[in-house]
Amino acid sequence: MIDRLECKECLDVTDKDNSPLKGQLQWGGRFGAGPGAVMQAINVSISFDRKLWAEDIAGSQAHAAMLAKQGIISPEDQAAIARGLEEIAIEIEDGRFGFSDALEDIHTNIEARLTERIGEAARRLHTARSRNDQVATDFRLYVRGEIDGILAQVKDLMRALAERAAEHAGTVMPGFTHLQTAQPVTFGHHLLAYVEMLNRDSGRLEDARKRLNECPLGAAALAGTSFPIDRFATAAALGFDRPTANSLDSVSDRDFALEFLAAISIMAMHLSRFAEEIIIWCSSPYRLITLSDAFTTGSSIMPQKRNPDAAELTKAKTGRIFGALMGLLTVMKGLPLAYAKDMQEDKEPVFDAVAAITLCLPATAGMVRDMKANTERMAALASSGFATATDLADWLVRVLKMPFRDAHHVTGRVVRLAEERGVDMSSLSLADMQSIEPRITAEIFAVLTVEASVTSRTSYGGTAPANVAKAASGWLETLQ
Ligand code: ARG
Repeated sequence: MIDRLECKECLDVTDKDNSPLKGQLQWGGRFGAGPGAVMQAINVSISFDRKLWAEDIAGSQAHAAMLAKQGIISPEDQAAIARGLEEIAIEIEDGRFGFSDALEDIHTNIEARLTERIGEAARRLHTARSRNDQVATDFRLYVRGEIDGILAQVKDLMRALAERAAEHAGTVMPGFTHLQTAQPVTFGHHLLAYVEMLNRDSGRLEDARKRLNECPLGAAALAGTSFPIDRFATAAALGFDRPTANSLDSVSDRDFALEFLAAISIMAMHLSRFAEEIIIWCSSPYRLITLSDAFTTGSSIMPQKRNPDAAELTKAKTGRIFGALMGLLTVMKGLPLAYAKDMQEDKEPVFDAVAAITLCLPATAGMVRDMKANTERMAALASSGFATATDLADWLVRVLKMPFRDAHHVTGRVVRLAEERGVDMSSLSLADMQSIEPRITAEIFAVLTVEASVTSRTSYGGTAPANVAKAASGWLETLQ
């Protein structure tokens, strides 16, 4: 059954019954009758591709200016087109534009309105182009704009993380592997791990942007055109680096959207991992951080609850973004060259993924700025679970020149003794330790503190507070 509500937005705002163009399709020369209702319902895209109106108008302006410069249309016609399109842009911005389902998509809606406003000249705008190169151009412009916006959001999140990392360069917390207490790390070091991930994410988006930035306009339907167009001029006018090189590829390529979705999928995966950590850190058994009222919700029945919903939704929205990538890959995978209407299904998943990632990024930055580190709890948990066992083993190697495998064995026996007594390693007496390895000295108790442990980890990329402070200030400088 056709979901009438889906189309309602369109039908409501729109269908201007008095429009002379209503129902008059652009291929009317060949077609005697309009489409059946179900045909129209499956074919129509104006309910979602209206999002591309600004890009569509920009593309038409560049195309018309080029046509005039090349002597393909008159300067008078181009002036009328330019003015008409400017007025249409204002109508759309003001919400006065009547979008029509009968006119199928954003390209025909705008062209029909232009014809209403300026008459004959509008009918020359489609010379030497097709909706196939038009939509490819619009969509590239749209994705490019979103890439730029997302890059700015990522930068803001990285800055938030680096600021909190600088603040917590020396704050000790438990480091985990297998979600088991492993070795103490600093909270700042943990936050900077995400800065590294997000920096790679930015790199992937910047890289995708470079390949995206070629202009398909002028490839026309699929074969190019017999008119003496200047594709370099339209490409430059629209901020592209150059025109695309092959007309068939120009109208049938959606790699730019796929690369974008792949890049934000990886980014969403990173945000999801961080969100899961926030959820764990906030949970009652851990209590490593606290989120304020601004980033939590309460429970309608349990008054003690403070739920990290923003983190949970950031994690869950990943499904939409991965889904968009899989959906579009599936649309594209069996398409023969060149354009097919299948490709109209490229837009909604991208729009949906953009809506998701552009919410998740500021939500994550907000949580980073909001979170309070419960430093005492972090230190207490870091000291539990024999987190400094490796430090004991390292001391045996360094001071007693014991081979690491033997040191690991001795340390294991110390851990077992502490476990049997139900205490931490540092609560064992020197005599207890010496009963396992007689050469151990009192020096060991200084080594077993979590502060000593993190301070000693000065290897490049290690968690030592001095390293973290330096890395955080380096990032803050880069992210100016
Ligand atoms: N609405 C179409 C799309 O988004 C525009 C291109 C239509 N081209 C065509 N030959 N029917 O893909």
